[in-house]
Amino acid sequence: GRPLVVAIDGPSGSGKSSVSKEVARRLRVAYLDTGAMYRAVTWDCLDRGLDLTDSALVEAAARALDLELSTSADHESVAVRGHDVTAEIREPRISQSVSAVATNLGVRNELIRRQRALIAVHGRRMVVEGRDITTVVARDAEVRLLLTASEEARMRRRGIQLGGTQTAEDLHQQVIERDLKDSTVASFSQAADGVYTVDSSDLDFEETVEAVLAVVHAAV
Ligand code: C5P
Repeated sequence: GRPLVVAIDGPSGSGKSSVSKEVARRLRVAYLDTGAMYRAVTWDCLDRGLDLTDSALVEAAARALDLELSTSADHESVAVRGHDVTAEIREPRISQSVSAVATNLGVRNELIRRQRALIAVHGRRMVVEGRDITTVVARDAEVRLLLTASEEARMRRRGIQLGGTQTAEDLHQQVIERDLKDSTVASFSQAADGVYTVDSSDLDFEETVEAVLAVVHAAV
């Protein structure tokens, strides 16, 4: 088929992952969760006992990373050096450390290179989601959009996702503070030129998927 790269950026709790996955399914294209790649590097560094502030060592770990990542929206799996880390990379200890790894420019260069290679391998038919996809990784995407949501909506969704046992303070730490740390690596809070914005604050899941698909169909 024709190239169809759909680049989706947004903060945590915007519903980005579940929406991106469903959009990929309906468009019948591949799906790439770039956040899972930053999480996998973080898992690898912690597993090796590396000091995350040692930027040369962390960069070297990213370059050497033996990563197997599913690019199908129907099947989630992430393996590092043969260990299935699909569930572990979602744990709070990873979420708390991932920004330290993601601010390492050597790590970013390596992962951006791998992400572009994966897009090419899939014949440029892929939904790619993250923080810097519309601005860096796939500036040339057929469709670029920013999925936003109010702080309140994001904290509510993340709370539900984590099972509703979190205190408001925990949630704030996990959602707002991580985005603050991440804002130094990529500017995803405002849409760059030519990037559409979908605000999901007042939309349910199906409405958000339909809003994204409407942008895709209007653009191609
Ligand atoms: O999307 P997710 O919350 O899984 O991303 C985990 C982390 O990976 C983010 O908090 C951010 O530090 C980093 N990330 C990034 N650039 C991307 C995707 C994720 O820096 N394109």
